[in-house]
Amino acid sequence: MTMEARLVGKKRSNVVLGNTNNIIRNKNNNNNKKRCINTKRCSTKKPTMALQKLFVACTEVFKGPGTVPPPPDVQNLRHILDNMTPEDVGLSTDLLFFKSSGVAKGTPSITYTTIYKCEKFSMCLFFLPPSAVIPLHNHPGMTVFNKLLLGTMHIKSYDWADPDKLDDSVPSSQLRLARLKADNVFTAPCNTSVLYPTTGGNIHAFTAITPCAVLDVFGPPYSKEDGRDCSYYRDFPCSDFIEDGSVDEALGEGRNSYGMLEEIEMPKDLKMQGIEYLGPQVMETRC
Ligand SMILES: [Fe+2]
Repeated sequence: MTMEARLVGKKRSNVVLGNTNNIIRNKNNNNNKKRCINTKRCSTKKPTMALQKLFVACTEVFKGPGTVPPPPDVQNLRHILDNMTPEDVGLSTDLLFFKSSGVAKGTPSITYTTIYKCEKFSMCLFFLPPSAVIPLHNHPGMTVFNKLLLGTMHIKSYDWADPDKLDDSVPSSQLRLARLKADNVFTAPCNTSVLYPTTGGNIHAFTAITPCAVLDVFGPPYSKEDGRDCSYYRDFPCSDFIEDGSVDEALGEGRNSYGMLEEIEMPKDLKMQGIEYLGPQVMETRC
């Protein structure tokens, strides 16, 4: 089940992100403004130049399922996102949500909103309070741009490794060898990271250290109907399952460069709440 799918049909609970409810509010229906014929009706807020530039670039770069943008297009999108600020999507460090330093009791809720979605791409914002975790999950057949707009977060990511690396050493078909791509702390403002269907850290996890806002561009978006559902994983050190010597011998780069991933059900304590996006809108070119 995709993160987005989790939101469909669920009653939206009252979400108050500090004062961010002046730009995003609870979503009581699924009527995303995918089509924008009348600009006066669809534009509750004027697009910022940077957001509109990103949107237009996305319409040109993403060609639909089964395609990956060529390097010049990736570089173009990355450059646009690198220069985007929280204000471009209506956010500010002055908002109460981003001033919070305490950790809430229980599992913190992650809030999610869609700026725009079509068959070829989507633009989404994720809000993570301190200590919130989006567990390891994949992005099948997708190219994804992650831009941390505000906050500090730990990002861990993997790509599937060559299945022949360990031959028959892996004790269970439930476990799959993955190569560690990133295991670092990032603080905004920082450059955009890009993941591809099979490289760049397609399987990743976010752990918020401070309140965070992340702008994600998915091309194409998750779609269960089209075989791009989201799977979740937990990771283990290779040495938990394979003798250290054989790991080093087989992989040649040391056990720390790899992990063993096991697919799991979507964690029951993962709380994702959907809210309506009320920030600066994008305007389709035919508007
Ligand atoms: Fe992700």
